[in-house]
Amino acid sequence: MPTIRLPDTNEVTVRRLWPTDMTLYREHLLRLDPISRHSRFGGGVSDAYIDDYVHTSLRLDTLIYGAFSGSKVVAAGELRILFGAWPPTAETAFSVEEPYQDHGLGDLLLTKIITAARNRGIVTLSMQCLSHNQRMRHLAQKHRAELKTTDGETEARLEPAAFNPLSYMEEWMNEADSTLSRMLLWKPSGLN
Ligand SMILES: CC(C)(COP(=O)(O)OP(=O)(O)OC[C@H]1O[C@@H](n2cnc3c(N)ncnc32)[C@H](O)[C@@H]1OP(=O)(O)O)[C@@H](O)C(=O)NCCC(=O)NCCS
Repeated sequence: MPTIRLPDTNEVTVRRLWPTDMTLYREHLLRLDPISRHSRFGGGVSDAYIDDYVHTSLRLDTLIYGAFSGSKVVAAGELRILFGAWPPTAETAFSVEEPYQDHGLGDLLLTKIITAARNRGIVTLSMQCLSHNQRMRHLAQKHRAELKTTDGETEARLEPAAFNPLSYMEEWMNEADSTLSRMLLWKPSGLN
């Protein structure tokens, strides 16, 4: 599994989130400071909005990667495939808790989301952010997105390359690694 070592020596590990991780994802989004929450959702949203949002997040057409510090999700990248869209299109969004920002997690999550989109035949990957969100704009451009700004909002559009055996291998090796780690960490309830 990819890991990033932060300056405070905490190691952050990235893996896919599953429906059983919904509470951890919800807690992560609720911990975002007001500015990050505003940037993530394109405006101020309530805790109840986040509850509802998380319920729709772990659907079959959504893939989420979470960055873990210990047992907490501290950052996440979401890929939502737009059902019925042709050519195949998906939206993506990112959230990194303030103490973990600017250490490469957003870049790592975006890289993984682009690979996941490639492997699912996505032709257009779009991302919305506020136009003053310099970090997100910079990351999008770094991954060769085209930016279009209207009324204070920027839409970044990327065209992921077609999948190939290497892109499959990249995703599934990480998947296998994280599944194996979870199996090794799993304990039947009642045992110490
Ligand atoms: C935007 C966000 C996802 C980026 O993740 P991150 O982990 O902080 O970003 P990273 O450390 O991976 O990368 C930041 C990049 O922006 C650059 N950067 C930082 N501040 C910048 C600024 N003011 N102007 C331009 N570039 C800037 C960094 O140098 C780095 O570039 P590099 O990789 O070429 O060195 C994260 O800050 C976040 O969650 N913010 C709140 C929610 C949000 O804005 N979500 C996006 C909308 S969906």
